[in-house]
This record gives sequence, C-alpha cells and structure tokens, in this order.
Amino acid sequence: MVTSTALYHLLNTFNFTVDIREVCVFLAPLFSSLTTLVTFLMTRELHSTGAGLFAACCISIVPGYISRSVAGSYDNEGIAIFCMLLTYYFWIKSVKTGSLCWSACCALSYFYMVSAWGGYVFLVNLIPIHVLCLMLTGRFHHKIYVAYSTFYCLGTVLSMQISFVGFQPVQTSEHMGALGVFGLCQIYSFVEYVRSKLTKENFTALFRTILMFSLGCFALFLAVLTLSGKVAPWTGRFYSLLDPSYAKNNIPIIASVSEHQPTAWSSFYFDLHVLTIMFPVGLYYCFKNLTDHNIFVILYGVTSIYFAGVMVRLMLVLAPIMCILGGIGLSSVASTYVRNIDLTRKEDKKSKKSADNYPIKSEVALVVVCIVGAFMMFYAQHCVWVTSEAYSSPSIVLSAETAHGRIIFDDYREAYWWLRRNTPPDAKVMSWWDYGYQISAIANRTVLVDNNTWNNTHISRVGQAMSSPEERAYPIMRELDVDYVLVIFGGLSGYSSDDINKFLWMVRIGGSTPSGEHIKEHDYYTPQGEFRVDKLGSKTLLNCLMYKLSYYRFGSMYTQTGQPSGYDRVRNAEIGNKDFELTYLEEAYTTEHWIVRIYKVKKPDNRGNLV
Ligand SMILES: *[C@@H]1O[C@H](CO)[C@@H](O)[C@H](O)[C@H]1NC(C)=O
Ligand SMILES: *[C@@H]1O[C@H](CO)[C@@H](O)[C@H](O)[C@H]1NC(C)=O
Ligand SMILES: *[C@@H]1O[C@H](CO)[C@@H](O)[C@H](O)[C@H]1NC(C)=O
Repeated sequence: MVTSTALYHLLNTFNFTVDIREVCVFLAPLFSSLTTLVTFLMTRELHSTGAGLFAACCISIVPGYISRSVAGSYDNEGIAIFCMLLTYYFWIKSVKTGSLCWSACCALSYFYMVSAWGGYVFLVNLIPIHVLCLMLTGRFHHKIYVAYSTFYCLGTVLSMQISFVGFQPVQTSEHMGALGVFGLCQIYSFVEYVRSKLTKENFTALFRTILMFSLGCFALFLAVLTLSGKVAPWTGRFYSLLDPSYAKNNIPIIASVSEHQPTAWSSFYFDLHVLTIMFPVGLYYCFKNLTDHNIFVILYGVTSIYFAGVMVRLMLVLAPIMCILGGIGLSSVASTYVRNIDLTRKEDKKSKKSADNYPIKSEVALVVVCIVGAFMMFYAQHCVWVTSEAYSSPSIVLSAETAHGRIIFDDYREAYWWLRRNTPPDAKVMSWWDYGYQISAIANRTVLVDNNTWNNTHISRVGQAMSSPEERAYPIMRELDVDYVLVIFGGLSGYSSDDINKFLWMVRIGGSTPSGEHIKEHDYYTPQGEFRVDKLGSKTLLNCLMYKLSYYRFGSMYTQTGQPSGYDRVRNAEIGNKDFELTYLEEAYTTEHWIVRIYKVKKPDNRGNLV
C-alpha cells in the first residue's frame, strides 16, 4: 500500500494524472519487469552476461512467477520477490567486494522486503547459512565479515521498525540462527586476530579453555531463556516448513489452505517446464567453478527446492532460482558447443582435422545447440499456454471448454448481486471463509468469517454448523445471528472446488475446538474409510447441513445422459439422500448453473412458529 501510494503521488507530482486504481492494477506487472532486470544483474554477477540474458528471458515468462504478477493481482508477493532478488543481488555484490556501501544497500532492500512479506524469514536464514557454510569450508575472510556484520546490524535494527516484526528478531527461534551466526562471526574474527599474535601452543591452550567456558555459558543462557518463556517457541507456520505433517496434525486451519498443501510433482513441471531439467545442469556448472557467491546460489537452490516441495505457495521462491540456475545451465551448454560448430566447407575441414580431438565434433555441437534452441522454443510455448489457460482469468468468473464451444459460468457475481439487491442491508451471511471477502465487497453484506479471521473459534463454529444435522445447526445459526447461508455446489456444472470437496476441512476445523468435540472426522467416512456421497456413504454425512444445502432438490435433476437423476458430476456418483425437505431453512436463490445456492434461515415469530 505504501508503495502504491508513493508511486501515485510521484506520478501526480510530474503531472501524470493516473487513478490510484490503475496504480494498484499495474503494480505487480511493474515489479515483475523490475525483477527481470534484477535477475539479469544478479546472474551476470554470478556467471556471465550470456547467462544473465538467458535467466532474464526465462524469468520474464515463467508461469510460477506470472501466477502472482498478472495485472490486477494486488498482493504482497508481487513486490516481495523483487525485493528478495534485489537483496540477494546486493548480498552477492557485498560478498564480492566487501564494501560497506553494498552491504548497506543490502540491508535497505532487506528492510523493504520485511515490510512487504512474511517470507523474509527465508532470507534471514539463508544468508546466515551461507556465511556459516563459508566458515566451515574455510572460505571466511574479511570481506564476508564486513558484509555480514553490516547487513545484520543495520537490517535487524531497520526491520524492528516494522510493527509486525517488533522485537521478534531477538526473541523468536526463527531469527536465532542469524543472531548466532553474527556472534560466531565476531568470535571467529577475534580468534583469528589472537592467533596472529600468539605462538601456536599458547593459542591452543587458550582456545580450548575459552571454547569450553563459552559453550557452557551459552547452553545455560538458552535453557534459562527458553524455560522462562523469553524465547518464544517456533510459530506453527515455520514448523510446517520443517516438518510437513506438523500443521496437518496440529493446526487444521493452516493445513486447510490449498496453498499450504505439499506440491505435486506435476505442478513442478507445469510451473517450471524445462527449467526442472536445466536446474541440475546449472548446479553442475556452479559446482565446477566453486566460488563464494556460487555457494550462495547452490544453497538457495537446494533449500528452496525443499521448501517448494513442502508448500505449493513457496513455488514462488523457487521460480527465480530455477531461472537463474537454468539460465546458467543453458548458457554454459550453448557457449561450450557453439564454439565447436564448424561452418567451413568440407575441403577446408580436411586440413584442419588434426586439430579436432574427436570425430564429428561439429555435428555433435550442432545437434546440442539445436536441442537448446528447441528447449527454449517449447518453454516459451508452454509458458504462453499456461499463462493464458490457467493464470489469466479472474477466479470469480469461471469458464469451461465443451464440445459446443466455451461456456462462461458467471454464477458468483449473479449470486452476490442477488444478495445485494434482494436482502435487507443489515443481513448477515454465513458461508465458508473463502468467500468472505467477495461477499463483503460485491454483495455489501456482513459475513461471519473471511480470510482475515484469525480467531479459530469463529471459523470453527461455522464448521460445526455446516457439519451438524439441521436441528443441531439451527441453534448455532441463531447464536451467530445468521440470516442467509451461502454454499458453493459444483455437482451440476462439474466445478470441482466446491464446498463438498472442502467439507472435510470444515469437519476438522469444526472439531478442533472444545465446543465441537462431538464432531469426529471418522463419522463422515464409510466403514471402509471412504468419503462418498452415494447410498453407501456414512449416515452422518448424508444428513448434515452442508450435504442437505448442496443437494436440496438435486435428486430430481438429470445431469448426464445415461445416468439416473441426481447424478453428481464432480464425485461421479448418484447421490444417496434424494428426498428430503428443509425444516429450519428455505431456499432463497440458486444461480443459473447451481454453483451458488443461497438459503434463508427461518426465524421464530412471536408464537414460536418458524417463518
Ligand atoms: C453498503 O451497505 C451500507 C449499509 O449496510 C451502506 O451504508 C453503504 O452505502 C453500502 N455501500 C455501497 C457501496 O453500496
Ligand atoms: C481466501 O483464501 C482462500 C483460501 O486460501 C483463497 O482460495 C481465496 O483466493 C482467498 N480469497 C481472497 C479474496 O483473498
Ligand atoms: C475468539 O472469539 C471467542 C468468542 O467469539 C472468544 O471467546 C475468544 O476469546 C476469542 N479468542 C481469541 C484468541 O481472541
């Protein structure tokens, strides 16, 4: 927000009259073009200008990053990736030069990154790991000491100005690594200094005593702080990075978000394409010529590939390094073989034959260069296709390709406009939290929960209402003062991310608080442990509120030729509970393709009759 306001005022100062909305819409594309430039600079620092160009070409169209930087996606990540790469660029510069100025720039861009995205934790751990690696491999020298000390002191003090961060850098475990390495740097340099002044025997004796003493002190200190609760335990999101099953077992609300799921293999290919193949090649070339800054890229590559495997969302952190290493790989391969291509005529070649160290050298080179060219071509084609198919449409308007052409599903907006026009202005709408923002923005109605709800109790209460039978859900809805209930249903249109598919998360989140202890996940499965909506499904599932609201009147619908009525096209099953009436709710509105269904909660009148 600060960035967009600053840009807005800057442009208006120069008499470019733009609307703040246009600034917001084009912010992400602007920053992604800056990212391309930074990638070029960084890869040039690491390897060569050619590699820089390759990497910049790759990142300019890589789907993994485009998914977050299309025009109109006004999110922190758009800026954050740029800041992250800028920080890395300055870090590499300062490691190379040991100059205070570059380290200060690094700290400043780190400050910007901290203000933009919580993912800065990755950065503040990666740089210390790099320093630690350099120390362990005996590559630590004065330049790195200057670079890291400046970066850490300045960066930490600056980041503490952000209210979201506050005193975390000295209190939470995520930041302890950076602090520890900072201390280690000082000790290491001091030891080096003392060593240069003393004889060998004196030094060894002194060193041993001090090491024992300080290790003991440190352990004691840490134990006291942890026991007294001064050092906060690691936060859940970070645990879930290190141990993928942590969140799933302990915090359903974190695990339920689809972006926090482990990444499927196919999505690596979908988001990165040939870079997945060129990444190891780039790693090879980095290992071949091991320098201080190449160690950094290797560490970045290896850690981020691990994190991207744990959480889909972190594909965003992986995409830039994939492009950098892929660029290095492509460029090295190309430049090695282009040199071997011999375009001179056959007769001239005979005379030069003696210089070749293997036969058909030129032909091999030609084939390799063609393959690299083909890789780039297919990559470009894949990226354009993915971007246009998957990342360019607004998620609120769905479209599908059928035998009769493209169909547009505009059900969401239809339903939200219905709410806006036909319900009292103070009506309260209950829905799963994913739709909270959309309802409050487009329908202008109060919602119970949205993406910004941090109090588990509330989301859990909604989950309990959805997973209870109607007569038990009614008191909960009265307690929450709900007027309308909104559910998303894809059984008619084949839209698969509907509420029935999210339903198990509602059960888990509903059952995660004391008031929902009676809700057990296994009640919703068949004895064989399957989740099914047909006749064999569990009775609890077939009678809960979510099931009834989704399938109300659906039992008499014919959806697919050759199938009985009430055939669910997402679950590919004929539903098990067809004939039922609602007692406490009544259908208020169902959209054209049945994607959004809205129900009105009946209220008792003065005599206690439901109306
Ligand atoms: C939204 O609803 C409130 C009343 O609940 C009203 O005051 C406000 O003007 C509405 N906003 C828009 C944009 O219609
Ligand atoms: C809210 O969160 C859900 C789940 O993470 C996500 O799918 C949806 O896009 C988010 N909506 C908005 C408006 O941020
Ligand atoms: C969450 O909300 C419930 C009531 O709505 C309240 O009792 C509880 O203290 C809140 N929890 C937190 C952490 O704010």
